[in-house]
Amino acid sequence: MSTYKEVKRVTTHTLLEMKQRGEKISMLTAYDYSMATIVDQAGMDVILVGDSASNVMAGHETTLPITLDQMIYHAASVIRAVKRSLVVVDLPFGTYQGDSKEALRSAIRIMKEAEAHTVKLEGGREVIESVNRILSAGIPVMGHLGLTPQSIYKFGTYTVRAREEEEAKTLLEDAKLLEEAGCYALVLEKVPAGLAKQVAESINIPVIGIGAGGDVDGQVLVMHDMLGITKEFSPRFLRRYNNLFDEIKGSFERYIKDVKSQDFPNKSEQYK
Ligand code: KIV
Repeated sequence: MSTYKEVKRVTTHTLLEMKQRGEKISMLTAYDYSMATIVDQAGMDVILVGDSASNVMAGHETTLPITLDQMIYHAASVIRAVKRSLVVVDLPFGTYQGDSKEALRSAIRIMKEAEAHTVKLEGGREVIESVNRILSAGIPVMGHLGLTPQSIYKFGTYTVRAREEEEAKTLLEDAKLLEEAGCYALVLEKVPAGLAKQVAESINIPVIGIGAGGDVDGQVLVMHDMLGITKEFSPRFLRRYNNLFDEIKGSFERYIKDVKSQDFPNKSEQYK
């Protein structure tokens, strides 16, 4: 049986080696201690404390409202659970765009207060100054291109990005820019599979896709989507591994029935 000390942690360097030997990287979101414990013990390579917490944990329509304090709360809960996976935490909207000093302060708060391993932020050339400043403090940065949900009001829809040649060219340039700056990996969200393949082949850092096809270096999904807790969200790229909404609801319904019928608690479920 392995003990805590024997567990070999996943690092940014591990991910680079995985890309080099063609081993795919598994990444999933988590936002709390209990679920992160299960994800870590399942052997996930990377856990993303995504700002999708704004949607699936807090019920907001977009990722924009979640605050830095709230991200730190989620991240600290996840970190307490994790023994092996690399934990990356999203910098939320409004904490890094336009002011690289504020970006660094935000990243430092995540690293210090949550004890996170790395941070992720959305965008390419427009945030490169923030990326550089965070990296200069020794904080590893994961980029995020393609569909960038924090810019939803700029784009107007959640449809596939970079189908047009001009946008695809910009995306490829941005991917190279992020690699040159020193990012250790890149998330590519909802772009044509052919373009994602081209990006993954053009840069040496791992490209982790979501709705970006199979020719990238790894895959990421939002936990609540792949477990079937969110029912209404059904994009083409999503594979559901469970139907937890119905399973959990069924458990709640059985519990209600047992309480009402006085079947619960029975004699063996009480104290003498
Ligand atoms: O916040 C999130 O969950 C993400 C993934 C969709 C990559 O950024």
